[in-house]
Amino acid sequence: MLDEEMANAINIQLNAELYSGYLYLSMAAYFESTDLSGFANWMRVQAQEELSHAMKFYDYLVQRGARVTLTEIEAPPTEWDSTIAVFEHVYEHEQMVTGLINKLVDLAISISDHATNNFLQWYVAEQVEEEESASGVLQKVKLAGEDSSGLLMLDQELGTRVFHPPAQE
Ligand SMILES: [Fe+2]
Ligand SMILES: [Fe+2]
Repeated sequence: MLDEEMANAINIQLNAELYSGYLYLSMAAYFESTDLSGFANWMRVQAQEELSHAMKFYDYLVQRGARVTLTEIEAPPTEWDSTIAVFEHVYEHEQMVTGLINKLVDLAISISDHATNNFLQWYVAEQVEEEESASGVLQKVKLAGEDSSGLLMLDQELGTRVFHPPAQE
């Protein structure tokens, strides 16, 4: 049985992961509207990843006999000033999520919940990848700058991204 405070904190994080998915889907819609379908594809895949992060929390709560409680998801922004602004937002958002995951780990450690701490380490590693991929695309977008052929090449590259569901334990 999971500690009640821990279960509540995981339910809040489940909502945050769904919000992340919502945010990236909104960014996908923004890119569809600017005819950058490769960027839109990258964001769609990112949204799928976030849903899989949420489901991993969902499954853990069920596994530990805790109740999954779904709450209202905040509406994401719908407009950004530029492609660079979108990826600055993604990078900042992922750094914020890393902070949330670290807080969950702090809580698990403070109540000696080693099982949850162990479970959360998957997210700790995942956030390293998330920050790396967000800052990687941000750097490339900055390099392309105002050069439309550079941006179109990047659009082609991001169009090849496919979703890989996380391995089942
Ligand atoms: Fe996530
Ligand atoms: Fe993420």
